[in-house]
Amino acid sequence: MSSTTLIEIRRAKPSDAESVATVHDEAWRAAYQGIIPGTELEKLITRRGPDWWDSAIRKGSRISLMVFGEQIAGYANYGRNRARSLFYDGEVYELYLRPEYQGLGFGRRLFSSARRDLVQSGMKSLVIWALSENDGAVEFYKALGGRAVARSSEKFGSRTLDKVAFAWSA
Ligand SMILES: CC(C)(COP(=O)(O)OP(=O)(O)OC[C@H]1O[C@@H](n2cnc3c(N)ncnc32)[C@H](O)[C@@H]1OP(=O)(O)O)[C@@H](O)C(=O)NCCC(=O)NCCS
Repeated sequence: MSSTTLIEIRRAKPSDAESVATVHDEAWRAAYQGIIPGTELEKLITRRGPDWWDSAIRKGSRISLMVFGEQIAGYANYGRNRARSLFYDGEVYELYLRPEYQGLGFGRRLFSSARRDLVQSGMKSLVIWALSENDGAVEFYKALGGRAVARSSEKFGSRTLDKVAFAWSA
């Protein structure tokens, strides 16, 4: 007997809100524990519950899901570049996989799909911000050919963390 697991990338629907909130919770805890102070991390996660995702999906935010069988393995959300000082058209705001789905090539697929979607909307160049201490993300964006083009910092409670922008030209 053989079984087939469907792996696909598709746009999020309102009925996905609850699952995306769970993926967000798991992925952010794993990525930022020890980097973002605990109470701040809890606040960031709580703010992004099912209601937040439901509203983002209904508003038409671009949210792609990496679906592995019945499970949502990860998500990416993206759109116009928010930093006026940077001359890139598009931005991937977030790209997160559940810990058990990391390191299997899914991140690369999700990134490529987001980039393709932005290019199809005329946004040919792209930027992504990562916290400098998030070594995994920094290595990932370098492996994907991103160039470090800017630095900034962000305050999380009592801690100020450096962040770095990676860019892909048209
Ligand atoms: C970062 C993340 C999206 C990468 O996705 P992934 O599926 O694990 O990565 P892939 O398997 O597609 O790897 C693609 C390339 O990046 C490299 N890479 C990925 N993670 C890496 C790591 N932690 N350290 C070093 N290299 C890494 C891989 O070696 C691979 O390179 P290659 O194709 O040249 O061999 C995923 O691990 C994740 O969700 N991490 C936690 C959340 C996070 O930090 N998100 C980014 C916030 S800005």
